[in-house]
Amino acid sequence: MEKELDLIKQKCLKCEKCPLSKSRTNIVFSDGIPNHKLMLIGEAPGYWEDVKGIPFVGKAGQLLDKIFASVGLSRNEHVYICNTIKCRPPENRNPLPEEKDACREYLDEQIKIINPKIMLLCGNVAVQSILGSIGGITKVRGKWFDGSKYGFEDTKIMPIFHPSYLLRNDSREKGSPKWLMWQDIQEIKREYDRL
Ligand code: URA
Repeated sequence: MEKELDLIKQKCLKCEKCPLSKSRTNIVFSDGIPNHKLMLIGEAPGYWEDVKGIPFVGKAGQLLDKIFASVGLSRNEHVYICNTIKCRPPENRNPLPEEKDACREYLDEQIKIINPKIMLLCGNVAVQSILGSIGGITKVRGKWFDGSKYGFEDTKIMPIFHPSYLLRNDSREKGSPKWLMWQDIQEIKREYDRL
């Protein structure tokens, strides 16, 4: 698995398929371990990810690690992490359709190699990329989608809030985004343990 992933990474390192290749500092390919049980797909690299070449290392990433840790999961032991696109868009704007299209082959290869039992889609951009226009994140988060309907056999897919959204919504009251995330991560852990 690692060798196959490295081949794709080597392709990405040379990629000039879209203009983001001109402004990037680093390709942000993946982090965590290639675990076929659990994969998380985020949006796009931000400032710190671009600087370090590692996904989810800024503030949002630190919160993501805490969310996983709250149920005993960690990126070093349990989860493979990547993004829909591998280069940072200027000013952290949403990736353009043509940027997502150009990068899609790399994401598809990553998914095919990991062949995850559970795929988490972190935020609207990831949901839209994998499931299409099925509704905003507040409507679809916490629900299981059958991957076989989207070309991913034997994969259960769950959209979850993006940690940057949680950073902007600090309440922990019942029904708040943070509270809902806590319900979702517990459900994810139950399913992880069951598999
Ligand atoms: N947000 C994302 O979606 N991905 C990252 O890697 C960092 C922040």
